[in-house]
Amino acid sequence: MHEAAWTREDALAVLDSAERRESQDPDRMWKRVGLRAGEVVVDVGAGSGFYAFPAAETVGPSGRVYAVDVSEELVALIRERAEARKVRNLEPVLSTPAHIPVEDALADVVLLADVLHGISPKTLVEAVRLLRPGGRLVDVDWKKRSTPEGPPVGHRLSMKDATRALAQYGLRRTAAFELGPAHYVLVFERPRPPRHPARLVSAE
Ligand SMILES: C[S@@+](CC[C@H](N)C(=O)[O-])C[C@H]1O[C@@H](n2cnc3c(N)ncnc32)[C@H](O)[C@@H]1O
Repeated sequence: MHEAAWTREDALAVLDSAERRESQDPDRMWKRVGLRAGEVVVDVGAGSGFYAFPAAETVGPSGRVYAVDVSEELVALIRERAEARKVRNLEPVLSTPAHIPVEDALADVVLLADVLHGISPKTLVEAVRLLRPGGRLVDVDWKKRSTPEGPPVGHRLSMKDATRALAQYGLRRTAAFELGPAHYVLVFERPRPPRHPARLVSAE
């Protein structure tokens, strides 16, 4: 685990840069994932809201976005931005690594953007708890090779490692694509329970 709560200064310098917006276009990412009006999104490790605000625009007034972070400073920054931009369908949420105060199975989509390589298994259990059966978990992460920005290569997860890690939580990978020169996106589904459960007793 290499992640920690980010400060406002980190976020403004790194997460909000114009170069990042060009290489990791958040609108393009949501379009490829097929985010729809009316859906509920939980962005775990939302930072400054780089993906959360475009998601709020796409899901519209009938949808909702929970922008979750362990950093008090960043939750405050997102709240200020939502108020200034009059974004009413985005709720900033302060979490701890072991608990996200959002109810079970409420999300159509859970986003982990540039966080999977750094969060604890407890946070992952929480992220999966929030996902409804049939919902999608989207993992945006750094390719495992040297790039001018981003975490050291040794801290990054390959697509294969990320897939294996998330499979341990019962998630099934359904799509994968590139996002700009340095990132990949993996989409997972939380399987629905079978419609006709297997017989519990034998027919003998
Ligand atoms: C690399 S930044 C990514 C921010 C955002 N997802 C983005 O792509 O712009 C990682 C963020 O995760 C937050 N974070 C770290 N550990 C966390 C955890 N266990 N649960 C929730 N947020 C966490 C940090 O405070 C920081 O804002």
